Amino acid sequence: MSSSTLRVRVARKTEEAQDICSFELVSADGSTLPAFSAGSHVDVRVPGDAGVITRQYSLCNDPSEDHRYLIGVLKDPAPRGGSPPIHEQVGEGDVLESSAPRNHFPLAHEARRSLLLAGGIGVTPVLCMAERLAVAGSDFEMHYCARSRERTAFVDRIQRSSFAGRVRFHFDDGEDAQKLDIPALLREPQPGTHLYVCGPKGFMDAVLAAARAQGWPEAQLHYEFFSAEPVKSDTDGSFEVKLASSGKLVVVPKDKTVVEALAAAGVEVQTSCEQGVCGTCLTRVLEGEPEHRDLYLTPEEQAANDQFLPCCSRSRSPCLVLDL
Ligand code: FES
Repeated sequence: MSSSTLRVRVARKTEEAQDICSFELVSADGSTLPAFSAGSHVDVRVPGDAGVITRQYSLCNDPSEDHRYLIGVLKDPAPRGGSPPIHEQVGEGDVLESSAPRNHFPLAHEARRSLLLAGGIGVTPVLCMAERLAVAGSDFEMHYCARSRERTAFVDRIQRSSFAGRVRFHFDDGEDAQKLDIPALLREPQPGTHLYVCGPKGFMDAVLAAARAQGWPEAQLHYEFFSAEPVKSDTDGSFEVKLASSGKLVVVPKDKTVVEALAAAGVEVQTSCEQGVCGTCLTRVLEGEPEHRDLYLTPEEQAANDQFLPCCSRSRSPCLVLDL
């Protein structure tokens, strides 16, 4: 257990909607918890049949609270690694290991107005942002899309909140008139208006594609993917990576990731999601052209080819020189 690992106890487990539970995590020794900002997540280690697995969960309580972390978890119909979902594995009173909060999805302090878009369980960081913006008296509007009312978590909390009037719900199985017209909403990018989106990949792709098509500047787009299917291709080949510090060459076989190949050679790269969504493994590229397969870097950052995510991305050139 590293010094930054927290021992947390599940103080309360609540069914928030169909297939969605919230878990209230408190410090196992009763101390206060490290502070967090809106958009933060924690890495929680969950015991499973295939060993301990690490999953990232956004914090969805008010960031001014220091006595608890609230996470919302969607029951995964096809959990990775063959492990049962946290829904079944973890109950009240259980003690888990968690990282301290980290934030790859922060609010932009320079925003004059914020447009918050949540799809399904993607509401968790967005709700935290809404709490924060409401407390700060900032101008914002939130749209919450879900498959149905029964699958929509935190409805009561939102409706009881001080910002209820700023939130619109959109249900896939509802009347056409209440569905979110994404292109219409994003029609005119305004200077100072920042867009935040979190949810399933299809939803996020649609929102970001519409925003980019309407000319939203990349600096005003903020997003966080929850998970991604690893992209594998039959045409994946092997290549080499070179460590700039030592000159050591490591072969990355076609069926291994760069992180796996480096680990086999005794070189550890810190990882978390291993799906190209969290940015933990971000590594500078000094020479060569990566083949980006992540959902973390912006298109501009990918095009610069000076950094990549070695948990999922590969190489277009025979050798990548890494700043390791
Ligand atoms: Fe999350 Fe690589 S470990 S992006």
